[in-house]
Amino acid sequence: MEKKFKRTLITTALPYANGPVHIGHLAGVYVPADIYARFLRLQGRDVLMIGGSDEHGVPITIKAKKEGVTPQDIVDRYHNIIKDSFQELGISFDVYGRTTSDTHRRTASEFFRKLYDDGQFVEQTSEQLYDEEAGQFLADRYVTGTCPHCGAEGAYGDQCEKCGTSLNATDLINPRSAITGSVPVMRETSHWYLPLDRWQKKLEHWILDEHKEWRPNVYGQCKSWLEMGLQPRAVSRDLPWGIPVPVEGAEGKVLYVWFDAPIGYISNTKDLRPDDWETWWKDPETRMIHFIGKDNIVFHCIVFPAMLMAEGSYNLPDNVPANEFMNLEDDKISTSRNWAVWLHEYLRELPGKQDVLRYVLTANAPETKDNNFTWADFQTRNNSELVAILGNFVNRAMVLIHKYYDGVVPEPGERTEMESALFDEIRRASERETDLLEHFKFRDALKEAMEIARAGNKYLADAEPWKIIKTDPERAAVILNAAIQVCANIAVAFEPFLPFMAEKLQKMLGLEKLEWSMLGNDTLIPAGRTLAKPELLFEKIGDEVVEQQLAKLAEAKRLNAINNWKPEPEKPAVPFSDFEKLDIRVGTVLECSKVKKADKLLRFLIDDGMEQRTIVSGIAKFYKPEELVGRQVCFIANFEPRKLKGIESQGMILSAVNPDGSLTLLSPSQPLTPGSTIG
Ligand code: MF3
Ligand code: ZN
Repeated sequence: MEKKFKRTLITTALPYANGPVHIGHLAGVYVPADIYARFLRLQGRDVLMIGGSDEHGVPITIKAKKEGVTPQDIVDRYHNIIKDSFQELGISFDVYGRTTSDTHRRTASEFFRKLYDDGQFVEQTSEQLYDEEAGQFLADRYVTGTCPHCGAEGAYGDQCEKCGTSLNATDLINPRSAITGSVPVMRETSHWYLPLDRWQKKLEHWILDEHKEWRPNVYGQCKSWLEMGLQPRAVSRDLPWGIPVPVEGAEGKVLYVWFDAPIGYISNTKDLRPDDWETWWKDPETRMIHFIGKDNIVFHCIVFPAMLMAEGSYNLPDNVPANEFMNLEDDKISTSRNWAVWLHEYLRELPGKQDVLRYVLTANAPETKDNNFTWADFQTRNNSELVAILGNFVNRAMVLIHKYYDGVVPEPGERTEMESALFDEIRRASERETDLLEHFKFRDALKEAMEIARAGNKYLADAEPWKIIKTDPERAAVILNAAIQVCANIAVAFEPFLPFMAEKLQKMLGLEKLEWSMLGNDTLIPAGRTLAKPELLFEKIGDEVVEQQLAKLAEAKRLNAINNWKPEPEKPAVPFSDFEKLDIRVGTVLECSKVKKADKLLRFLIDDGMEQRTIVSGIAKFYKPEELVGRQVCFIANFEPRKLKGIESQGMILSAVNPDGSLTLLSPSQPLTPGSTIG
């Protein structure tokens, strides 16, 4: 880190208060930001971590309408859920505010007004989409339609989620109102625009020349925006929810959510530090870091900086370490499809496992490309890394000291090459960890912290104090003294990542405080100190946890399939004579059994009125064979026989395909004579 900075202002994207936060938000923004903030604090640096809820914007009003409550009800509910769950996960915000606060309303209004008075906006009249039924203009998420770039259906008026292109509502092909479903008309309205083109040159120089160190994904996205040429962007909207435009004659108009939300960083800093907030925003010796997800890059690297440049007295961000996306079980996380692991549910269902989630999300952090969270990996990382390496090492060291010395740390004695090799390795790993943390490479930094635990684990396994305690007690004391120093290093090295574990370990070791400068020190715990009782740091996670979570996701997928179900498109017409070729009949099930080595198949013996026939059918997942005996079914009698798992199937039993993909056997509604034909 360059020394010219006296303090660091960390901002974290303000999540929309239209739903709880999920692991995608955490992996993308809050866990890395928290790691960084904790790392700086351990170094004794002056740091503030700013967070809060983004409480304006169209998704909130849509949700409110759906539930028949006010937007304020929605944001009150989710702001509190989000705030509490962040706290429980140990995300160490110095302030967690909200954009419906008075401070924010005032700050955002004043900001707009300053730019307005300074002639930094242009006012323009244009035709916008208007919903006559709802009596409202449609912008952003109020409109859906076909994406003009990739042709995907259901693109929003601000962005196509399929191809990621950011759009204007008027770009959409076949637009529809998300409020009433009606086809919007065009109506004239006027808005204020921030002429980004005026800042093009300055932004180019600032990003492309002065910030070549930004992550390639961030730099690359900025470059392509700049190459396309920046256009004026509307900063007001015709909406009933938001901060009123503070200008005469602007009734019914509010600030565009992406204008007010980033100002929320300023408002929340003001609430936290009413007296010196300006030092945090305007002193050139303060540096600002924005933690965001990749969908926020343009707003934080181009639009907000242009707003700050236009205002004139603020610092620009020093870095914007944006992450890519985290998928879940190989599928895109989606709030509307309920394909997510929600933080507040995780905390309830897996109590006390905050650090495990933080660990897994960091070990798989989507820093350079999209990454994937799976419950199987969650279990493996817990059991074979946190439990088997970190937890095992610390536990061994603690337990042995209690066993041999009643918990009193033995004298360091005369260390050998083994110990100097151990501490050399720890020093090297912690230096690499420090360097990686400074460069926002949290995933690799965590690996280096883990190297310390691995080194300790290996050291104990090689030195085997439990074997030599009888024959060479002096040597055993040397080993266990060294081991406990490694434990102290672990508490420090992992604190940014696993703060709950670090605190527990700190207490067990009797360390007054944790500081980054302690890393690499091999005399952190004096001989003679009595250690607290050993407590397990991590516990194994059983298969049932994984199964429960996967079942929950499967249920979400099923419900979603039902909600989105549409009838199959009709097949091309066929002549009646084609239908007549099929021989469909009623039969009674005489016997039914599972087919060996085929989990989908059932074997039926059917009374078809003539004799008996065998039919194999793929419905084993939906029926127990014994339940089907005696039941009547419909079947196609004249299919050419085919072999399934070695059994000759003489026909096909008819069933309906349900919206969730399950099958239901078709049976006559009253008993019929076996062999009756259907037509
Ligand atoms: N609410 C936005 C989102 O979830 C992020 C806002 S970040 C801020 O994508 F800078 F505008 F606050
Ligand atoms: Zn598209």
